Amino acid sequence: MAIDVSEIQTIDHDVLVIGAGGAGLRAAIECSALKLGTGVISKSLLGKAHTVMAEGGMAAAMGNVDPRDNWRVHFRDTMRGGKFLNVWRMAELHARQAPDRVRELEAWGAVFDRTRDGLISQRNFGGHRYPRLAHVGDRTGLELIRSLQDHGVHTGIAFHMEVTALELLKDGDRIAGVLAYRRETGRFIVFRCKAVILATGGGGKAWPVTSNSWEYTGDGIAMAYEAGAELMDLEFTQFHPTGMVWPLSVRGILVTEGVRGDGGVLKNNRGERFMFDYISERFAPETADTVEEANRWLEGDKQARRPPELLTRDEVARAITAEVKAGRGSPHGGVFLDIASRRDADFIKRKLPSMYHQFKELAEVDITKEPMEVGPTLHYFMGGIRVDADTQQTTVPGLFACGECAAGLHGANRLGGNSLSDLIVFGKLAGDGAQQYIAGLSATPRAPNEQIERGVRRATEVLHREKGTNPYLLHERLQDTMSKGVGIVRTKGELATAIEELEALKQDAEEMKAPGASQYNPGWHEALSMRSLLVTSEAVTRAALMREESRGAHTRLDFPGESAEWVKYNVIVKRGDGGAMDVEKRLRPEGPADLVAIAHAKIEDLESGNVGGVT
Ligand code: FUM
Repeated sequence: MAIDVSEIQTIDHDVLVIGAGGAGLRAAIECSALKLGTGVISKSLLGKAHTVMAEGGMAAAMGNVDPRDNWRVHFRDTMRGGKFLNVWRMAELHARQAPDRVRELEAWGAVFDRTRDGLISQRNFGGHRYPRLAHVGDRTGLELIRSLQDHGVHTGIAFHMEVTALELLKDGDRIAGVLAYRRETGRFIVFRCKAVILATGGGGKAWPVTSNSWEYTGDGIAMAYEAGAELMDLEFTQFHPTGMVWPLSVRGILVTEGVRGDGGVLKNNRGERFMFDYISERFAPETADTVEEANRWLEGDKQARRPPELLTRDEVARAITAEVKAGRGSPHGGVFLDIASRRDADFIKRKLPSMYHQFKELAEVDITKEPMEVGPTLHYFMGGIRVDADTQQTTVPGLFACGECAAGLHGANRLGGNSLSDLIVFGKLAGDGAQQYIAGLSATPRAPNEQIERGVRRATEVLHREKGTNPYLLHERLQDTMSKGVGIVRTKGELATAIEELEALKQDAEEMKAPGASQYNPGWHEALSMRSLLVTSEAVTRAALMREESRGAHTRLDFPGESAEWVKYNVIVKRGDGGAMDVEKRLRPEGPADLVAIAHAKIEDLESGNVGGVT
């Protein structure tokens, strides 16, 4: 089939941002403010991003509710939550810069809940020492997106909605553009640009039970990999402890951690608050070990330690899984989350309005009167594309990544609320990084036509196949493989089986068919997404097989416990010369002494200023 590249629509920007969630919007706003011609493409309509699934708040050490908070304590919490695998500099930048980014958002119109003194209110969340999550009821992600959109649309950014990126185009080793297509018409577009910022989120749709919506197929991670970028830490996939489990049609939908932050407790089918049985050594000194002390905390006693329901997500998700496995689960395979017996109906409706409506409408449960049934749901990728901490540049010149698709900030486990602040801190830095890169370019890169032709041919071959595999059935098989082999707990045998199945799926994907025209052809969209899902799933599985220890969200039954040796390494995935996936155990740089001291400090020493000063 002859392809005439001159017939394909071409659009020029200095920078193209792929993804219109919080990170993409913040990056685009920065680029535009720095006078770069900026375009944003998004697979769906503006406003529909996984950002909205970070409901309970954005973490920033503003100290509005507890003045003992400061960036150092936030940094320490993030490192401990990430089991010390976080990129030190990213965790530092995030903790230091998050408060300014939140205030900036407020200046752009975000309407946060307030304290009695009129300050931005902050709530408790798992793993955060103090109330730290600036929030808007339980709709914080939505408000973040709304504020960035309202601000961004007035800054000259060109938005291209319902456009999917297919491949990154390069001039030699540099980024030169993106091949994309309009979902509605099936028409291709070549975006020519000097830099690309990926802000495409994770790949939760590789699992059947997930809080992610249809867009989250790992596109940015797969495109970066195919363009030669390195991936890192993909073995760490976060199962949020509380998703809906019933009715089946809504299984996986998020139940915000804000429920527990505002006093909700987890119970098994015997009515026991089982989290007291799962307090790990690391968090024991800071966690209440009696119901009485946990209740004192709820009543506002600042000397009381935090309830075990606010342990980090990896720990809570594993505990729920263990309860269900031991036969102490709820009727539909979860556990009970009870806020009704702890807070009055007015409080619940005011602080958790979406949860109230979600359960009323979807499950016919009134959460002001009855407990919810909840269980783990695949929510987030800690790993992704390896980036430089300060500029967010990947290992490919001109290619930047921020937000969930970038690796490093969260290490082995993300603290709730650190995602929204990640998006705005590193979205801005990616914009700054792209501007610096472009300022240093001596010529505008241009991709050769053959690359575009190859991309179009690769994308359209499924349309011309009458016989072959159905991409929807392939997707179902993939979800089955990932849930059985690469779930909350893993073993060598199960991971090896998953890899065999992935190899078979890859073969079958070579023969996918979605016959017909490219207009209004959902089968074609599905086939194209499968390409990304397969690359991302393989990277997760191979990385999980390589890491022979249990750390954070990666639990190996055959290698229980953290290994002092393995904390020295990241698992890096990249495309090998022959095209096969290369997985490497790579030594991590050691942390600077001042940050190491803060991360390992006793909390009393941080508060008193004995370590790192008090500000
Ligand atoms: O539970 C939640 O509201 C989710 C927050 C997050 O993932 O950061």
